[in-house]
Amino acid sequence: MKTYELKELKGVDGIVLNPGRPTPTPAPGEVLIKVRATSLNYRDLVVASGHYPSSIKPAVIPLSDGAGEVAAAGAGVSEFKVGDRVAGTFFQGWLSGAICAETTGQALGGAVDGMLAEYVVLPQNGAIGVPSHLSFEEAATLPCAGLTAWNAVVETGRVKAGETVLLLGTGGVSLFALQFAKMHGARTILTSSNNEKIARAKALGAEMLINYREKPDWDQEVLRLTSGRGADLVVEVGGAGTLERSIRSVRVGGTIALVGLVAGLGQIDPLPIIGRAIRLQGIYVGSREMFAAMNRAITQAQLRPVVDRVFDFDAAKSAYAYLASGAHFGKIVIRV
Ligand SMILES: NC(=O)c1ccc[n+]([C@@H]2O[C@H](COP(=O)([O-])OP(=O)(O)OC[C@H]3O[C@@H](n4cnc5c(N)ncnc54)[C@H](OP(=O)(O)O)[C@@H]3O)[C@@H](O)[C@H]2O)c1
Repeated sequence: MKTYELKELKGVDGIVLNPGRPTPTPAPGEVLIKVRATSLNYRDLVVASGHYPSSIKPAVIPLSDGAGEVAAAGAGVSEFKVGDRVAGTFFQGWLSGAICAETTGQALGGAVDGMLAEYVVLPQNGAIGVPSHLSFEEAATLPCAGLTAWNAVVETGRVKAGETVLLLGTGGVSLFALQFAKMHGARTILTSSNNEKIARAKALGAEMLINYREKPDWDQEVLRLTSGRGADLVVEVGGAGTLERSIRSVRVGGTIALVGLVAGLGQIDPLPIIGRAIRLQGIYVGSREMFAAMNRAITQAQLRPVVDRVFDFDAAKSAYAYLASGAHFGKIVIRV
């Protein structure tokens, strides 16, 4: 089978196509998945660059996210049969309950082989069925960006109808978070660097939009739009570069779901976090149990992930370059 392997941690140049890796055979309790689509996350750029904080398996097959069909099932597999449509779960060991050190060790496309291959073998509880109305390209976007946004908005954010959710940028996590916030009846404020993307986010249902390049003090704008109160929940994908303004944008007693670090470095003063009793909660994707809850909600709402561009398998490196360019709106997919 064809697969990509991360031979050297030196960016996209370290990713090499292996045209002749043997197709794996499922052991008892495992399923063989014919991968039909994979999707990229910002994390995959960080992994390829060698800057990911966890250890990376030598010559790892990249990408945490992918969906396909069960092609064979090992002995004792009870949850799936040949032909079932499934995705891999980001953390192979976080099935349910609270996150702990033991559950986050086995992440696809990092510590263990990921999805950028024609076939993968996973333990049956490392896979999960996907909503039937989604294409494989759409389903491939769920395991990391989708589940992280679900965790931030619903599981951790516990958003309620009528509350205000602040979303930063128009990447994969933020647009899923927009869709989940809307699903739960929240008002949404979204920032972006680009007016064309702002128009697209508005068409997706974002009510209040701020161009953070034109208005670098976007926190003041958030306060103006919320009559001085601030947002109930911020889905923070910028990290240190945006966190100070997010702290100023959230209401007293509100929540910041700390997800990412696309906005570079900065210094944080902890005093307003204490003085305004802000709940600052780190988010690390989510469990298989949360994935199942997200799937039920996506099915009920017939929600469709925002797929920006689909690349062919042979053009996988161009997909990485497109992600790195920042031109995307939502998710980038590689068809296998
Ligand atoms: N903790 C977790 O479990 C977890 C899971 C998934 C992702 N993440 C992290 O979350 C972050 C977002 O991931 P993603 O996959 O959604 O990334 P992405 O698709 O690449 O989106 C990034 C977006 O962030 C916006 N952005 C860039 N610089 C910004 C700035 N200075 N201020 C505000 N927005 C800015 C841009 O939107 P515009 O072009 O509209 O300006 C860009 O499209 C990454 O750091 C990623 O590593 C963490």
